[in-house]
Amino acid sequence: MNKFFISLMLCSFVSPVWSAEAMLETFKVDTDLPAIARGVDDLMNNCHSCHNLKYVTYLDLAKLGIDRQKIDGWRGDQPMDAPLASLMSDEAAMQSFNLVPPDLSLMTKAREGGASYVYSYLLGYYNTPDGVTHNHIFPATKMPDPLGMSTTTDHAQREEIRKTAHDIVSFLSWAADPHEQERYRLGYYVIGYLVILTLLLYFVKKQIWSRLK
Ligand code: HEC
Repeated sequence: MNKFFISLMLCSFVSPVWSAEAMLETFKVDTDLPAIARGVDDLMNNCHSCHNLKYVTYLDLAKLGIDRQKIDGWRGDQPMDAPLASLMSDEAAMQSFNLVPPDLSLMTKAREGGASYVYSYLLGYYNTPDGVTHNHIFPATKMPDPLGMSTTTDHAQREEIRKTAHDIVSFLSWAADPHEQERYRLGYYVIGYLVILTLLLYFVKKQIWSRLK
């Protein structure tokens, strides 16, 4: 009987997490430079007016290999090591939304569901028949639908919006952990080195013991 109650309690703790996660669309991060470059372009056009990315500088974009002319167009007379600061002041944001939109630099790490959460949130806007805009993933959000998902009914255009969201979230995933790919590469070298070292030591040991026998 006790077991029954314990499993019942466990189920009631776990199930809300399941249902929230189940609503998220699975997102596969694209680590290719062209996708990330399109992503930063789309982000500068659609998100940067309201959001900061205080841990990403124009110099980081240049080092990544983003087109220098584009970077110069975005930064204007700001120095290369300036962060991507939002075009909206905190006061103006408070007036419009009663809050300051969160910084996006670490967003794909900051929310449960990570990149899939951000992707699903951007695509989660819909209009009710009486014309009110809602979001499946974040029902009470104060962010106006930035990519126009709620007002687009044309299939091809909705696919375009999906692609834009995909590239933006790929860029945001890079921004949240710029050295991830290098770390993976280094990991392969380290494992390769350890395998070779193990083999060498094995043969050395064999040789020494063969002399002792
Ligand atoms: C018109 C201003 C505006 C634009 C443009 C905008 N946002 Fe937002 N965003 C907001 C506000 C306001 C919030 C805070 C929402 C809330 O907490 O209710 C927010 C919140 C967010 C959040 C956090 C949600 C959470 O779980 O707290 C993410 C992620 C986000 N925006 C991504 C984006 C992306 C990506 C774009 C571009 C495609 C974008 N935003 C464009 C105003 C904006």
